Amino acid sequence: MNAPFSPGRTAHREPFVAFVCDEATAESLRPIAIEQGWNPEKVNKGGLRNAVQTLSVSASPNVLLVDLSESGDPLNDINALAEVCEPGTVVIATGQVNDVRLYRDLVASGIQDYLLKPLNPDVLRETFVQAQAALSAPKQADATSERPHCAVAVIGTRGGVGASTLATSISWLLSEKAGRSTALLDLDVHFGTGALALDLEPGRGLTDAIENPSRIDGLFIERAMVKASDKLAVLSAEAPINSPVMTDGAAFFQLQEEIRGAFECTVVDLPRTMLVNYPHLITDVQVAVLVTELTLAAARDAIRILSWFKSNAPHTQMIVVANRVPAGGQLEISRKDFEGSIERKIDYLIPYDPKTAVQAAKLGKPLAEAGKSVKGLAPLAEIAERVIAYTDAAEDAPKDAKGKSKVDTGKGGSLLGRLSSLSIKLPSKKK
Ligand SMILES: Nc1ncnc2c1ncn2[C@@H]1O[C@H](COP(=O)(O)OP(=O)(O)OP(=O)(O)O)[C@@H](O)[C@H]1O
Ligand SMILES: [Mg+2]
Repeated sequence: MNAPFSPGRTAHREPFVAFVCDEATAESLRPIAIEQGWNPEKVNKGGLRNAVQTLSVSASPNVLLVDLSESGDPLNDINALAEVCEPGTVVIATGQVNDVRLYRDLVASGIQDYLLKPLNPDVLRETFVQAQAALSAPKQADATSERPHCAVAVIGTRGGVGASTLATSISWLLSEKAGRSTALLDLDVHFGTGALALDLEPGRGLTDAIENPSRIDGLFIERAMVKASDKLAVLSAEAPINSPVMTDGAAFFQLQEEIRGAFECTVVDLPRTMLVNYPHLITDVQVAVLVTELTLAAARDAIRILSWFKSNAPHTQMIVVANRVPAGGQLEISRKDFEGSIERKIDYLIPYDPKTAVQAAKLGKPLAEAGKSVKGLAPLAEIAERVIAYTDAAEDAPKDAKGKSKVDTGKGGSLLGRLSSLSIKLPSKKK
């Protein structure tokens, strides 16, 4: 949980300690503890209150079972426990309240499981097996720690250009095709579609993290992320739209840190406004995919966002993607003019393909998956490959990451100047 690691103490970790409120619970617990090879004398009386007192002065065990029966406000009291319980402890709660909401809230706050009293021996056994598995499972990042972590942010120049579509597709490709464990962090806290697009419930993880950044640790991440597959997990929210996001950004930063430790790749769906409000979010991101449409407004904002990156995050490799590009040249701005105004090439062009987009939405699958065999959508896979190539190469040759060779920044000039040089065919206004 959240208490700082205490190396001196952790060397003497008990495998198992329980704090229960009544003798009946203690009695049902002891034989199962013995079966696991644990000391039955570690089943103490005193419930949650005693757990907090004891753990504030001694090392946290590997597996901790706490009885919430005497707690008036279990969620609040679990937070008090989190303050004194060190990271890495698997906490199992038990109590008499049969309420799925309480269960969900407890799990969201980092509890492994909540068992209803009276304790059933089979359920207990199963829970302990899972706790042991959680303890012995190698951290995903450990197995592949030789590879650098790959962090990519996907940003739209305008609303609705398809940034989230690309974010989900890239995360799917990184996880399924490149075989890397991937976290999709959807920072569109109120209106995010990361979970929806993958046919998942967003859960409370992201909202909890924002409300309580001090809770965020490895265990929290493990519990809060919603799994789309073995290799892909999502942290997304549908925060109530009557309340603004109250955070100084610490929660987002902390989340990125923890995700970095647990996954090989992070894909951040990053709304433009978040970039403005929390510029530090980009600190550890090696690649930014800027998704745009070919319109005048998007050209203006592409110029501004590219320039922002140049001044604030020159280490970030940019990939510019024109999405939803209609066939037949029905463009507000031609590709050539757009490239002229942003003073760099568009790296990838993805056609407007409503048929596959609708199919993807109906199936609850990423566009890249629904359109696997659609030729026009092949650039999606190329983008994911480029992302990996950039991040892997950045480790070998850090100077290359700064090179920005694709960006021709030599021309400069005012924003208006660069936009007004566009040869756009706008209908003339009636005088
Ligand atoms: N290449 C494409 N062809 C057709 N439709 C597309 C394409 N890419 C995305 N879409 C569709 O465009 C709509 C907007 O996409 P998406 O939600 O990804 O955009 P966004 O930039 O994340 O929007 P917001 O600003 O709301 O976050 C969705 O309905 C999506 O299915
Ligand atoms: Mg979006």
